[in-house]
This record gives sequence, structure tokens and C-alpha cells, in this order.
Amino acid sequence: MLSLRLKAIASFLEETDRIVDIGCDHAYLSIYLCQNSICQSVMASDVNPNALSNAIQNIKNAKLEKRIPTVLSDGLEKINQNLIDTIIISGMGTSTILHILKKMEQEKIKKVILQSNNDLYELRKEMKKLGFYLENEKVIYDKNHYYIVGKYTKTFRKYKKRELYYGIYHSENKKYYFYLKEKLNTIYQKIPKNYWKEKLILLYKKHLLKKYL
Ligand SMILES: C[S@@+](CC[C@H](N)C(=O)[O-])C[C@H]1O[C@@H](n2cnc3c(N)ncnc32)[C@H](O)[C@@H]1O
Repeated sequence: MLSLRLKAIASFLEETDRIVDIGCDHAYLSIYLCQNSICQSVMASDVNPNALSNAIQNIKNAKLEKRIPTVLSDGLEKINQNLIDTIIISGMGTSTILHILKKMEQEKIKKVILQSNNDLYELRKEMKKLGFYLENEKVIYDKNHYYIVGKYTKTFRKYKKRELYYGIYHSENKKYYFYLKEKLNTIYQKIPKNYWKEKLILLYKKHLLKKYL
């Protein structure tokens, strides 16, 4: 069974997409996409030889070795970007994701699907600089964790400051916004009294979040 998180990624894809899944690990997502004819083509890639050999074995077990090429690659380093138009990176931190995307050939890529484990403000802001704007986001709650899956395309949009911090507002994400509020409150309580600057920054973040509550 594919996790809710990986299913959310799949939900942002279309049948014309030519995909590379960077950091595919067991290739569960690539196999699911292929088995369900969700996109035109899928390539599975990982920097770790052990992870990639697990992926290759799983792809073989699913009898999909002719349809899912695998590439041992650090990010996009060894990926032929003529063969793809969509990049998926999930389960990594923002700095690794942005490091990988530095090698992106922008004119060839139309869509990037990202699930970062941290610093979503930085991710949304830096993606804008790369010319990719948040088109949609899904908040997934699975195994006691919130995961944010973002779909970035070249369709220009202006961001409100709060969208850079907390994503695009969806009323069904209320629980997540309250979870963030609690988190900010906890951090605020821990800041020592004389750390005024840190306190002010946090008050500002709390103020931005208020509109979502
Ligand atoms: C936590 S797993 C996530 C697997 C899968 N993408 C998911 O979301 O379930 C991270 C994977 O990314 C791979 N990885 C980390 N840095 C990478 C890089 N620079 N290039 C390619 N793969 C990378 C790791 O080897 C690992 O298999």
C-alpha cells in the first residue's frame, strides 16, 4: 500500500508527464505511477547504490524493468533532462532539494513536485527565484506527522507573505494551522526574556498565521 504522502504526490501528476523521481529509495512511487498509468514515463534515481539496488529489485519483481529505467546519480547530475519534464523530490531537507535543483535545466522542466522535511519558507521563496511558483499544496497527516506536498509550475503568481510561511490557504487544513500555532507558542515560551529580536520575529509569524485560524 502506497503511503498517503506518496499518493498526494501522485495526485499532482498528469498522463503526459515525463518524470524523474530523485531519491526514489525503494521505487514504490515509480512503480505505483507506472502500474496505474498515471504518467507518460518514469525514471527512478538515487545517489545511494544500496537504495538503488533495492529499487531495481522491486522494479524487477513488479515486472516493470523495461518501463522504469534506473540511474545512480547525485541529484540531476547523471539525468538526461531531454527525457523528462517533471521532477519529483520527496523525503529530503530543503537545502538538499535546492542543491539538487541548481542543476535543473529550467527550459526543459515544466513541473516540480516537492515534499521537504523542513524549512518550507525557504523552499517556497527559493523556488520563486528559480522561476517556479506554488500552484497547489496538500497537507497530509500520516503516522503522527504532517507532510506538505507542493506542486510548482512556471505559472506566475504573487505571494502573500503568509503564503511563503504557511502555504496556500485551504479551509480543510485548519488542524494543521492550529498545530503550527501551538508549535510557535511553544517556541515563544522557550525564548529567554532579553532576546527581543527573536521574540519579535516570532510575534510577527504568529500574526501572519492568525489569518489562517
Ligand atoms: C528518506 S528517503 C525518501 C525516499 C522517497 N523519495 C520517499 O519520499 O519516500 C531519501 C532518499 O533520497 C536519497 N538521496 C539523498 N540525497 C540524494 C541526492 N543528492 N541525490 C539522489 N538521491 C538522494 C537517499 O539515498 C534516500 O534513498
